[in-house]
Amino acid sequence: MPYIEMNHSVKRYRMGDTVIEANKDVTFAIEQGELAIILGASGAGKSTVLNILGGMDTNTSGQVVVDGKDISGYSARQLTDYRRNDIGFVFQFYNLVANLTAKENVELASEIVSDAQDPVQALTDVGLRDRVNNFPAQLSGGEQQRVAIARAVAKNPKILLCDEPTGALDYNTGKQVLQILQDMSRQRGATVVIVTHNSAIAPIADRVIRMHDGRVTAVETNEHPMDIKDLEW
Ligand SMILES: Nc1ncnc2c1ncn2[C@@H]1O[C@H](COP(=O)(O)OP(=O)(O)O)[C@@H](O)[C@H]1O
Ligand SMILES: [Mg+2]
Repeated sequence: MPYIEMNHSVKRYRMGDTVIEANKDVTFAIEQGELAIILGASGAGKSTVLNILGGMDTNTSGQVVVDGKDISGYSARQLTDYRRNDIGFVFQFYNLVANLTAKENVELASEIVSDAQDPVQALTDVGLRDRVNNFPAQLSGGEQQRVAIARAVAKNPKILLCDEPTGALDYNTGKQVLQILQDMSRQRGATVVIVTHNSAIAPIADRVIRMHDGRVTAVETNEHPMDIKDLEW
């Protein structure tokens, strides 16, 4: 049984008299420890999939199985526990707390779970040992995103979900961030899901899930994912 499975998942948003079908039919599976990329143009429904997988939103119909449990039937309370204990989230614009240091931002997450990593170690692992006492405004975009990754990973989540994690970064900084995410999967066995509209990133993934207009149109597996250093875009 796959680690993550979406089966005919549908998501409709009702706005007054109109109904927007953000996900029309989403079916895919991801194995534990994989680096998966969900690829598609803006508006394809990628963030909707990620938010449902992360328990920040719920689907209208269909199954969402994570580690043997169908989270689509979870109560609000179960979803809170799920988000807290099982999910690490990385956003395009980092979402750090501006008046807390890098270390304090990571502590914010590590303090809410029982078996968290040491915040300084998590920051050291992303190459920020010397920046633990800096505030976000004193860090570059790439450094801020690395703090956000340390914050997500410090909880030892089952799954790391990343929505356009390189979308606000320049080319080389984006590559550094992708390298950290690929290492999380290859060296630590984390299951990592990256959403992107940039098809040039796809070769680094173990699995590529293509979306168009609210549907999964293709799923490909890469026997030999490319190393980030060989990637060009
Ligand atoms: N909360 C929401 N309310 C209404 N419509 C939404 C909401 N979230 C997403 N949508 C719509 O669903 C579609 C898919 O959005 P999204 O999942 O954000 O796509 P992507 O991340 O691939 O750009 C878009 O048309 C978007 O406007
Ligand atoms: Mg999006």
